[in-house]
Amino acid sequence: MIMKKLMYMFVAAILTISCQQQSKESDMDSFINELMGEMTTEEKIGQLNLITPGGGIPTGSVVSTGVEENIKAGKVGGIFGVSGPEKVRQAQKLAVEESRLGIPMLFGSDVIHGYKTTVPIPLGLSGSWDLELIEKTARMAAKEATADGIFWNFSPMVDVARDPRWGRVAEGAGEDPYLGSKVAQAMVRGYQQDDLSSPSTMMATVKHMALYGASEAGRDYNTVDMSRQRMFNDYLPPYKAAVDAGVGCVMSSFNDVDGIPASGNKWLLTDLLREQWGFDGFVVSDYTSVNEMIAHGLGDLQAVSALALKAGLDMDMVGEGFLTTLEQSLEEGKVTEEDINTACRRVLEAKYKLGLFDDPFRYADSSRPGKDILTDENRQLAREAARRSFVLLKNDQQVLPLKKSGIIALVGPLADNKNNMLGTWAPTGNPQLSIPVLEGMKNVAGPGVTILHAKGANISDDPEFAEKVNVFGPRIEIDERSPEVMLKEALAVSAKADVVVAVIGEATEMSGESGNRSNLLLPESQKKLVRALAQTGKPLVLVTMSGRPLALVEENALAAALLQTWHPGVEAGHAVADVLFGDYNPSGKLTMTFPRNVGQVPIYYNHRTTGRPQDGDKFAKFKSNYLDVPNSPLFPFGYGLSYTTFEYKNLSLNQAEIAKDETLEVRIDVTNTGDFDGEEVVQLYVGDLVASVTRPVKELKGFKKVFLKKGETQTVSFSLSADDLAFYNFDMNRVTEPGQFRVFVGGNSNAPNVKEFTLEE
Ligand code: BGC
Repeated sequence: MIMKKLMYMFVAAILTISCQQQSKESDMDSFINELMGEMTTEEKIGQLNLITPGGGIPTGSVVSTGVEENIKAGKVGGIFGVSGPEKVRQAQKLAVEESRLGIPMLFGSDVIHGYKTTVPIPLGLSGSWDLELIEKTARMAAKEATADGIFWNFSPMVDVARDPRWGRVAEGAGEDPYLGSKVAQAMVRGYQQDDLSSPSTMMATVKHMALYGASEAGRDYNTVDMSRQRMFNDYLPPYKAAVDAGVGCVMSSFNDVDGIPASGNKWLLTDLLREQWGFDGFVVSDYTSVNEMIAHGLGDLQAVSALALKAGLDMDMVGEGFLTTLEQSLEEGKVTEEDINTACRRVLEAKYKLGLFDDPFRYADSSRPGKDILTDENRQLAREAARRSFVLLKNDQQVLPLKKSGIIALVGPLADNKNNMLGTWAPTGNPQLSIPVLEGMKNVAGPGVTILHAKGANISDDPEFAEKVNVFGPRIEIDERSPEVMLKEALAVSAKADVVVAVIGEATEMSGESGNRSNLLLPESQKKLVRALAQTGKPLVLVTMSGRPLALVEENALAAALLQTWHPGVEAGHAVADVLFGDYNPSGKLTMTFPRNVGQVPIYYNHRTTGRPQDGDKFAKFKSNYLDVPNSPLFPFGYGLSYTTFEYKNLSLNQAEIAKDETLEVRIDVTNTGDFDGEEVVQLYVGDLVASVTRPVKELKGFKKVFLKKGETQTVSFSLSADDLAFYNFDMNRVTEPGQFRVFVGGNSNAPNVKEFTLEE
């Protein structure tokens, strides 16, 4: 029996585990050579087929049918939307025991921000600027997911995003390629560690290759068109960083790149990804993205499937174009046996590295969920991650932290709400396990505080809008009471309180996939509530939850304090309470610019120079500005306050000129000048003043998160090498050009501490 033979070979492979990498690879090669030698073309094509029986959240209109028969016939390489050790074992048995060659399947899932222990949405998590924490949350997600039978993750999403209309900004690390690259690597490390075959690690997939974050008009699945320079300097670095970190899989994107959809783009998936970057894992399509090339106008299913395979796409998600047309294409000479072999080999290699040929059931251990999922320790990490992701945007007269005494009016549609705490793309989490803010506040406040609660408003009063948002459950629940009655109730409790806290913002599915908005304001129902609360004259604290930067000009003007909390995850209420009451001093910083209005979009700190820049916020005729709004955002990239204050002094460079083989040492003294211990994200930006092409006004080149006790000063230092100053020029060569540079250091991208240096010839 083939199975016995396979087992024998695995034992042999295990025995060589301590040998050199090379010998490991040759073991893998000879194993796969032998296996492929026994496979029919149909079976090889079967390995390229990824299905979903529809148990999870299908993100397209198609779900797979005939699942069991196809598995037994060797026509399925991987599956997603199935979880739980028993179900996984059952499905894996069909492949291992009932298909001719017994090749195990991959079991995948979208574990985007935690598995069952949901942590903040990735945009929020990136706001912690804490790579160790981010890695830990990914590690935790891998441990929980593998305990539930899933060992292939469709994460991290690293699409640089500068248009907050796009709902999927929630899923990434914001607008900056440098920070995005660091976060991408931390997540890959967290998921994969350095051993894919360990039962508690999972294979990561970097997505969506490529440029998906630049969809025109912020509309999902839309066209992308950009210069190669922008691509290479701004949009591609995070994907490359993930590849450099050893990511096992790459997912192609829905959009086109230079006029050719990513899933059929050979330049992207082969020339760049494999030949230039050296990627040696496999490429999976996005959900039916191969088939969608028909709508893109690239031909019928047979033509687009052949195009995708030849471009370097190895596995077809859900669309079954490979399964149903590649044999015919082979007969007609449109693809070669070698094309199919190459893709099949890559998928089998992933299975080998995951240890599946050694033990196909290694991730189907029924004793694990009870031990590894939603443990106290994991919930504690989720709470920690959430509070570290919050960004304090305003805090007039230190209205925050709240005292643990007196009366607090807690109002707003998200104040006592479980359904919207987890955020978008948390299909494996259970909203009912999340801690609402009201409960969290009660748990943290202690006996000295009375909390009066009223909903005050619906997230939106518009039933049509609610219906579109409520696709995965009741996210916007329109109250039976009229908006007037609810508002009256909120005003009544506010009248009795010392301070009013309103928890407002977006429902979970107002962002995320296909959650695009053409307006970035709070829904009118909530705007009315905020206006009325402000009129009471009581100190007003706004806790905003959203999957994207909102345009909060009016709210910022009306409130005394503004705390941006994204969608915080399963421990939402505790984390919000920890920060409101000062048990944790906020330290998050924005990773996406908050615009004043939607008309400023796209808006990002690292924009290029123009010939007619606006001078400060002052309008001037024939300058690059607007009549009705300054160019500056409401809150810039990197911005975030603390309950304490930090002073930056003594910026120094160790030399004014550096040679190309030297490094520049940048130092600055940071002092905690306020009344609380706290953390500050010290950020280093560099502007290239003279170059052969227009360059960004500044770019993040380093950051350090430091903890300072009150009164403490620390000298924070950074090293910059010539390579840190490199960029792609007009001829698409990565160059370092000599000349003048400007260094900015501070607590946000408007850092006022500036020094210049020269890079010598
Ligand atoms: C999304 C991917 C996701 C896939 C599988 C698609 O619609 O774009 O990010 O991984 O569905 O669920």
